Amino acid sequence: MTKIAEIKQRFEQDLSLCQTLLHLQDLKSKYLGKSGELTALLKGIRDLPAEERPVFGAKVNELRNQLESELAARTAVIKEEELKRRLADEKIDISLCDMQPWGALHPVTLVQNEICDLMIAMGFEVMSGPEIETDRYNFQALNIPFDHPARDMQDTFYLTDNLLLRTHTSPMQARYMERKKPPIKMICPGKVFRSDNDASHSPVFHQIEGLVVDKNVTLRDLKGTLEYLASHLFGQNTKVRFRPSFFPFTEPSVEVDLTCCNCGGKGCSLCKGTGWIEVLGAGMVNPYVLENCGIDSTEYNGYAFGMGLDRIAMIKYGIPDIRLLFENDVRLLRQFGK
Ligand code: PHE
Repeated sequence: MTKIAEIKQRFEQDLSLCQTLLHLQDLKSKYLGKSGELTALLKGIRDLPAEERPVFGAKVNELRNQLESELAARTAVIKEEELKRRLADEKIDISLCDMQPWGALHPVTLVQNEICDLMIAMGFEVMSGPEIETDRYNFQALNIPFDHPARDMQDTFYLTDNLLLRTHTSPMQARYMERKKPPIKMICPGKVFRSDNDASHSPVFHQIEGLVVDKNVTLRDLKGTLEYLASHLFGQNTKVRFRPSFFPFTEPSVEVDLTCCNCGGKGCSLCKGTGWIEVLGAGMVNPYVLENCGIDSTEYNGYAFGMGLDRIAMIKYGIPDIRLLFENDVRLLRQFGK
């Protein structure tokens, strides 16, 4: 019996020193394992007189139960502590992300997205086309034959005699009409290229082409569409003005001006005192172009426009030099962040 009491006392002492689950496992096998102290004690039962054995056995079992329940209680406490420690150690501070500088959409992308959204709302399909074009789609299908003086309107980067960097998004008119039959309502945003470089011209810039082909389309449909677009881009009171112009692929052709969003039409430095800002070229699709693309021009007609996105972004955000759009100076770009 003294042995039992002595084991219990030592166990309590050992237990109070246990810090980890590993310690507890060692303790368990030291006292309760196959060659542990209690097992050894039980083996000693043989040396006792028969009448003392049951009492002794019961006492040892009682001790075993006691040790087991104390071990279990301590295990639960240590498990809880270890979990708390791990949660604290492995905590991920997601607010750290805020310290990274956020990216921002480029002003041209912002304007492009806004225009696409407005056009989609009016039922237009958004397409994209190749930046390297053939002479046929960039010029010939659009009624600009070889050696025609109208080619001089667009200083072209030729790759070969037949391949070039597209000078406008208009080739997508032809590509689209060849594949789809009217009614057609499509827009095509994208990069275009011309051999030009000054404060208002960049060798790469952006356009959005628009094309509608159906029966009985008129210039008034074009004007209504552009008025809707302009009033959403630059404000309710923006007016749209058509001036006669020339493009080989539209007849009649117009230059389209908007009232200056800076001065509201009174005249300022942005509109050079005129009150108007030119933003796009447009017109009724030339019947030759429809026929070139396999559409019967006696049955169908349409309108098309080509709008400079960079210019619209510059006007909308007050950017004075087009080259700023392509320098990727983060001080400019960050101003468009959240
Ligand atoms: N493609 C012409 C340009 O880049 C713009 C335009 C498009 C004009 C469609 C009329 C119709 O200058």
